[in-house]
Amino acid sequence: MDSGSWLLTPEFMKSIVINGGRQLSGEVSISGAKNAALPIIAASLLCEGEHRIANVPSLVDVKTLTKILRNMGVTVELADHSAVIDSTKLANPEAPYDLVRTMRASVLVLGPLVARFGKARVSLPGGCAIGARPVNLHIMGLEKMGATIAIEHGYIEANAERLKGARIYFDIVTVTGTENLMMAAALADGVTILENAAREPEVIDLAHALIQMGAKIEGAGTDVIRITGVEKLRPMNYRVLPDRIETGTFVIAAAITNGSVIIRDCAPQHLDALLAKVAESGAEITLGEGTIRIVGSETIKPVNVKTLPHPGFPTDMQAQIMSLMCLAQGTSVINETIFENRFTHVAELRRMGADIVIEGGSAIVKGVPKLLGAPVMATDLRASASLILAGLAAEGQTVISRIYHLDRGYENIEGKLSALGADIKRV
Ligand code: UD1
Repeated sequence: MDSGSWLLTPEFMKSIVINGGRQLSGEVSISGAKNAALPIIAASLLCEGEHRIANVPSLVDVKTLTKILRNMGVTVELADHSAVIDSTKLANPEAPYDLVRTMRASVLVLGPLVARFGKARVSLPGGCAIGARPVNLHIMGLEKMGATIAIEHGYIEANAERLKGARIYFDIVTVTGTENLMMAAALADGVTILENAAREPEVIDLAHALIQMGAKIEGAGTDVIRITGVEKLRPMNYRVLPDRIETGTFVIAAAITNGSVIIRDCAPQHLDALLAKVAESGAEITLGEGTIRIVGSETIKPVNVKTLPHPGFPTDMQAQIMSLMCLAQGTSVINETIFENRFTHVAELRRMGADIVIEGGSAIVKGVPKLLGAPVMATDLRASASLILAGLAAEGQTVISRIYHLDRGYENIEGKLSALGADIKRV
């Protein structure tokens, strides 16, 4: 999502410059998961007291959420990959447009606020680069739990005496929707059953954090989650799981440069779909306890990919695997089923010599013998990563502009890639 305020900052002016063609080798360590840290930080709104969260990635999205919390009167200390949060003095249960528009996941404060304070005012996120992404299911769920919700002046205004347990069926699998309602249900009166719930590892991580806070949750990781509301929760002391999307991005970085990389501090069990596809493309993958060793192959075989809710292939890895397929010996079809407009990287990859045709929700990628460095523009978070990957493999220099998207979701990506031997810098 683009936000006008970025246009005025020095970050907007920055680019990443890559001189491609270096084989990556060495070891890289993975940061905490953005998509788990965000809901877990939001969960700290559910009760007073001092929450301690470890392995928090240093990312713009995390900072945006902490700004939203501080704006409500919450104390947040972020240091050395940990967060200490105390919402005892929360005075103003509101998330303003200026902050929400830069990050859709801000809507994660809605469930906890209504559950604890009986009211919340959260800006509607609006559209973003990868599609309309409505929040109707979050709203529907809270209404089923007895909240009164009005959309006024671009804000979701929610009120409830005390939320009541309900049976809620999602007709589309939604990750943050499942998380929002799981948090709300933790303090509701009675039992809530979420059906067709998201099964992402980040949903499970949030459930573990909530359970540590005293919530009663069964079935997280399956498509039916049962939450028995409790009167009160207690502060958590929790460590966020490793980021599977960052991990997957490094897996592809090794494969696309025909490199040899050991990825540490990761959770290989969360990457089955991606690792199966990368192995099918010819790379050699060896799993260890919290590690993945990947050795690229001289020739890349084409593989077809269809994005699906977890445990299917993640939409957040679609752009990156497309970069790999650009160099495959043959044609692959990449079908995006989660977001309707998540192909903005295609035009940029084409500028680097890729042969890609879009037909509806599918990209038909005909492998080319090589990509050529070019000036390109990042359009969203994962699209930025795909351009970096293409740049690592391309002949010559790639200059990626609008890299502020990258800092939303990758911690020090250029530092980590440089340490693996890439010629990459931020200018
Ligand atoms: C989360 C992830 C994001 C990932 C996405 C899909 C976070 C912070 N972000 O986003 O990185 O790409 O899951 O894996 O965890 N939908 C509706 N109505 C709703 C909610 C969603 O129609 O109320 C639709 C969306 O438009 C989309 C699909 O459901 O087509 C899945 O979206 P969802 O899982 O909600 O994505 P997010 O939770 O926003």
